[in-house]
Order: sequence, then structure tokens, then C-alpha cells
Amino acid sequence: MPVPGPGYSITVRLEAPPSASAAGDLTSAVGHAGGVITAFDVVESHGDRVVIDLTCNALSANHAKDITDTLETLPGIVVRKVSDRTFLVHLGGKIEVTSKVPLRNRDDLSRAYTPGVARVCQAIAENPEDARRLTIKRNTVAVVTDGSAVLGLGNIGPAAALPVMEGKAALFKKFAGVDAWPICLDTQDTEEIIRTVQILAPVYGGINLEDIAAPRCFEIEARLREMLDIPVFHDDQHGTAIVVVAALRNALRVVEKDIKDCKIVVCGAGAAGSAIIRLLLQQTPGDVIAVDVEGIVHRDRENMDVNLKSIAERTNKKNVKGRLHDALVGADVFIGVSAPNLFGAEQVATMNSDAIVFALANPDPEIDPMEAQKHAAVVATGRSDFPNQINNVLAFPGVFRGLLDAHARTITDAMLLAAANAIADVVTPDQLNASFIVPSVFDATVAGAVAEAVRKEAAAAKV
Ligand SMILES: NC(=O)c1ccc[n+]([C@@H]2O[C@H](COP(=O)([O-])OP(=O)(O)OC[C@H]3O[C@@H](n4cnc5c(N)ncnc54)[C@H](O)[C@@H]3O)[C@@H](O)[C@H]2O)c1
Repeated sequence: MPVPGPGYSITVRLEAPPSASAAGDLTSAVGHAGGVITAFDVVESHGDRVVIDLTCNALSANHAKDITDTLETLPGIVVRKVSDRTFLVHLGGKIEVTSKVPLRNRDDLSRAYTPGVARVCQAIAENPEDARRLTIKRNTVAVVTDGSAVLGLGNIGPAAALPVMEGKAALFKKFAGVDAWPICLDTQDTEEIIRTVQILAPVYGGINLEDIAAPRCFEIEARLREMLDIPVFHDDQHGTAIVVVAALRNALRVVEKDIKDCKIVVCGAGAAGSAIIRLLLQQTPGDVIAVDVEGIVHRDRENMDVNLKSIAERTNKKNVKGRLHDALVGADVFIGVSAPNLFGAEQVATMNSDAIVFALANPDPEIDPMEAQKHAAVVATGRSDFPNQINNVLAFPGVFRGLLDAHARTITDAMLLAAANAIADVVTPDQLNASFIVPSVFDATVAGAVAEAVRKEAAAAKV
């Protein structure tokens, strides 16, 4: 059951009588309306009234309105203003550029800007590699989207995607000190996107593609990887794959199974599913069965695109056919990156003993995690209100930190796997259990561990 959370948090500024009972009346009213009070501040006090900022979490925008309406009906209460705290956080945007150098006088100016800067420009013109040493390229990543597959919201366009990209940039900085900048493109044409990223690439040390719909995202990433001398990483694909593989490694430790003996069902063969399958196959699992909206992916299926054909070639050893429920029978692992509510506890019961279920469709998973728990030994979701949250934040900051530090020109599957292993290893044997297979997103050691693993792998591969 959903609970009121900070995503729908409001601050209600109201006037109340200066009586002893006013505070109790207000808090009871919010409680009865189903809200959760998180702060109660008296901001003004007068002989005849007090002004209070009442902050509470709600379930939805409508629920927040219901709470405010309830407060307004209390005797003597005047609601002055209601602020949506989520919108307040976004006012004017969430990131900014600041100067790293002092600009106090002519001396500073002459070195940071003209005339001194000209010599630095000439040095880079003579040796372009110096751009990685002498400019922001050293530490800057472009977060590029066309706004075509934003969160669970779909194709909402580039301007509406910007709050997500700003948030991503803020996370890059917070967790790994990477300067990331949002680039929201007003085109959804594959060729235009590729060309645009190509011509803006000189400024950046890496390209993070974000929320670009499949199958376009596959071609864009592959072609940019070929043409650019900086790493290109589609987070919805590889960030997800890294964290899923990390979580699976630890889940298998919990149930004491070897991936080489496991039948793994991956439901969803889009952006996330394809990349998960690719990384899983690096570890030679017993078998992988891919399932999409048309059912099990097999070699005799008709009308498959390039991506599905490639998956069909590399998975499903016995070339089995059927639907998701058929695939689940005897499976050790289910990984869902597809659609909500596809199966129930009775299908989990048909899986192998000590089943592992990762139901990651957002916001509603493929199976209610409480149902999955009835028969599965380990359950993970993409949700923050349930244990074992599969969250890309565990991967992308450290991955780019490592790539930038290594001056990497590309990114390889070996680096993705190294990142996955590093995340898994942050969970110590003492901490590991069915409810703790991945570290917290706020574990400050994760990004450093991932960065170090990626940097080492890049140095070893000399890429
Ligand atoms: N960290 C996370 O938790 C995380 C990360 C990435 C994606 N996701 C979630 O995974 C889902 C897929 O994301 P994506 O970017 O890969 O999307 P996508 O559109 O690229 O791919 C969706 C895939 O799901 C399949 N599918 C749709 N309905 C289905 C059904 N009824 N039965 C079986 N397969 C079905 C489609 O055929 C397609 O292969 C989304 O809900 C997304 O939010 C979660």
C-alpha cells in the first residue's frame, strides 16, 4: 500500500488562534486526512494569532489538496498559502556554473582570460590531447536526451525532460565530483542526434545518453562509440545492467547458487533488458530466456528487429517457445524490465527452489513484491519503499569518475562488469542477506569503489 512520501510534500502557511489546543487540532486534522506531518514551525506570534508553517507528506497532488481543504474547515484557521516543496526545489533550476579561479583584479583577469588564455589555446591547437589537461573536458560529461522515454512518462519532449537531466547532473557532482551538463535536444531524428553530439563532443570527456527510446538508442550509441574518442554510455541500458548484475551476484551468494547453473528469465528486451542480457552473457550463465510483449524470444520467431535477432542468437539454448509463464517454470532467476502486473505468486511457485525475483518495472513492478516473497528467496524492485532497490545511482557517477580519471577513449563490457563486481563487493559478508544485496545509494564508498575498478580496467585495457 502506498504511503505519504516526500515526493508530495507541502508546506501550508496558516493563521491560528493563540490557544493551547490549536496545534493539537491541526496535527489531528492532518492525521485524519491521511497526511504525515514532518515539521511544525511557528513563524510569527501576535496577541491574537500565531502564524504557522505546517509541513506534511501526502500521497498525491489531489491528496495534498484534500489535506489543505480539511485544515481550512477548522474553526479560526485561515490558510494563507500552500507551497509544493517539490516545485520549490526546482525553482530556477537545480544546478549552476561557478568559477574555480579568482577574478579579483587585472592580474587574475590577464591569466584566466585575455591575453594569457591565448597561449593556452595555442598549446591545445598544437597538441589537442592537452584539452583533457587544460580545460573542463577533464571532468565534464554531457547528459544528452531527446526526451523520448523519460522516466515512466514516455515521450514528453526535451524541455519537459530537463528537470530529470538537471537532477542527474546534480547526482554526478554529489556522488563523484563530475561536472555534468544537460543537453536536451529538440529533435528525435537519429541522424540529427548523432551529428549534434558529434559536433559538441570536443567540450566533453564523456557522453551519458539518457532517456532515449529503444530501438533508436542502440544505433545512436553504437555509431557515436565508433566515431568519438570519448566514452559513450547509455545509462538506461548499461547503468541498469551494472546494478542488476551486481545485485544478482549477491543474491546468488545468498541462495548459494552458481550463475553457471542458473536459468535466468529476462522479461523486457528493450533498452534495459538488452543490456542486462549482454552483461549476463559475459558470465556464461546456464541459460538466459528473453521474453518481450510477444512472448519468448526464439530463433524461429518472425519479424524480429536486429536487436531481437541478436538476442535470439545468443540465448535460449533449447529454442523454447511460449509466453512468460512458460519461461518461468524451473527458472532460478526472474529479471523484469518490462510492464506492471504480469504474474503472481502462483507463477513464482513454478520456479526453481530459492528463486530470485527482480521486478523492476517502474512505478509498478511485474509482480507485487509482497506476492513474490511468498515463494521467492530474494526479491528486488526499483522502488525506494522496499528493500533491495535497484538504482542506477549506484553505478553511473563512479563509472564516469573512473573513465575521466583514466582519460578513457571508450568503454568496454569488461569495465561494466568490473563496476558491477565493485558494487557487489561493497556489501560485506557480514552485511549480506536476502534484504541487503545492494549497498545504500547514500553509501559514500560506492562511487569510489566503482571508479577505481573502472579506472584499473581502463588502464589495463589501455583504452
Ligand atoms: N533501476 C530500475 O529499476 C530500472 C532501470 C531501467 C528500467 N526500468 C524499468 O523497466 C521498464 C522497461 O524499461 P526500458 O527502458 O527497457 O523500456 P523499453 O520500452 O525499451 O522496453 C520495454 C520492453 O518490455 C517489453 N514488454 C512490454 N510489455 C510487456 C508485457 N506485457 N510482457 C512482456 N514484455 C513486455 C517490450 O516488448 C520491450 O521489450 C520500465 O518500467 C522502466 O521503468 C527500471
